[in-house]
Amino acid sequence: MRPEHLSLLRCPQTGAELEIADGLIEGGRVKSGRLVAKNGSGASAPVYPIVDFVPRFVSSENYAENFGFEWNLHARTQYDSESGHNVSEDRLDTFTAWPADMKGEVLLEAGSGSGRFTETLLRRGATVVSFDYSDAVEANRESNGNHPKLLLVQADIYAMPFPTSAFDRVLCYGVLQHTPNPEAAFKALVPMVKAGGHIATDIYLKSLSYYWLNTRYWVRPLTRGMNSERLYRWCKGYVTFMWPLVRLLRRLPYGQAIIWRLLVADPIDDMPRADDATLREWAILDTFDMLSPSFDLPQTPAVFERWHRECDLDHIDVRLGSNGVVATARRTGGQTSMEKAMARA
Ligand SMILES: C[S@@+](CC[C@H](N)C(=O)[O-])C[C@H]1O[C@@H](n2cnc3c(N)ncnc32)[C@H](O)[C@@H]1O
Repeated sequence: MRPEHLSLLRCPQTGAELEIADGLIEGGRVKSGRLVAKNGSGASAPVYPIVDFVPRFVSSENYAENFGFEWNLHARTQYDSESGHNVSEDRLDTFTAWPADMKGEVLLEAGSGSGRFTETLLRRGATVVSFDYSDAVEANRESNGNHPKLLLVQADIYAMPFPTSAFDRVLCYGVLQHTPNPEAAFKALVPMVKAGGHIATDIYLKSLSYYWLNTRYWVRPLTRGMNSERLYRWCKGYVTFMWPLVRLLRRLPYGQAIIWRLLVADPIDDMPRADDATLREWAILDTFDMLSPSFDLPQTPAVFERWHRECDLDHIDVRLGSNGVVATARRTGGQTSMEKAMARA
């Protein structure tokens, strides 16, 4: 972290402002030290360590360990700058419709994983506050940690160490279904958005074909508790073995549905022009990603929309797309730039 980003942090337990104690600065960043409450003292005052440039508000031993494993192993696989395919950029453009230039804005990215969206958001000029519950923050730090506009922390969506109403935009992609209570996780994000600010989220789809007839949900009870290394070895071996069949099945009608039901997470729809080795690497990662999480709790569009309506949000748009169900909304209050212009006229 950089000292100038301290104002974006709060004690997750008390909401108090924090200050740096015993900070060791390297290249303008705090490499190690402690975060303590301003004016806080006493043996019971919370203390949060800064380790390897990252403030740590949680320990890495939690239900998201599988994500730490996968994102450190595939630290750059899904980066647009690595694959040469604009998968993350296009997803943001298509489903958030956020501007390409967000200079002067402050964004919150919840559950940043390896940081592929962090890279994309930083490119748009905003100050980006990214956090993840798992060791995936190490992968994000390796790729983006040096960026002067990034504040990266390890934290829990249920106890976020940030001031409320501080963010122009909040992004949470690929995360909610992997938390133990997706509704509470979603509803925790809304107060982070400024009045008039924007929130973009997604969640896996619960439907007959995506859930009840989806073989991954039949085998997950066996795989989700497995040792990550062992499960990853299995996924790699299985995808490699099935790959010639995958290539064949792609040519058939309903081939993709069959491939996914054979438990191979084929990414070809996202990257139709990618080379075979890239597709196979993504397939191994995504197959592990679908079988390993402790939680995978998809929702219907109607339920996801109801959560939005129960919050302080307007301009709600919930639709099918990308990972399942995608949504955008605006925090009630404040004025859009169009409304401001009209009010001025
Ligand atoms: C499938 S990954 C998505 C990562 C990234 N958003 C992307 O799309 O590439 C889900 C991420 O959510 C994180 N996560 C799960 N529970 C969380 C929690 N309670 N707080 C913060 N992050 C969490 C995991 O550690 C994991 O990195």
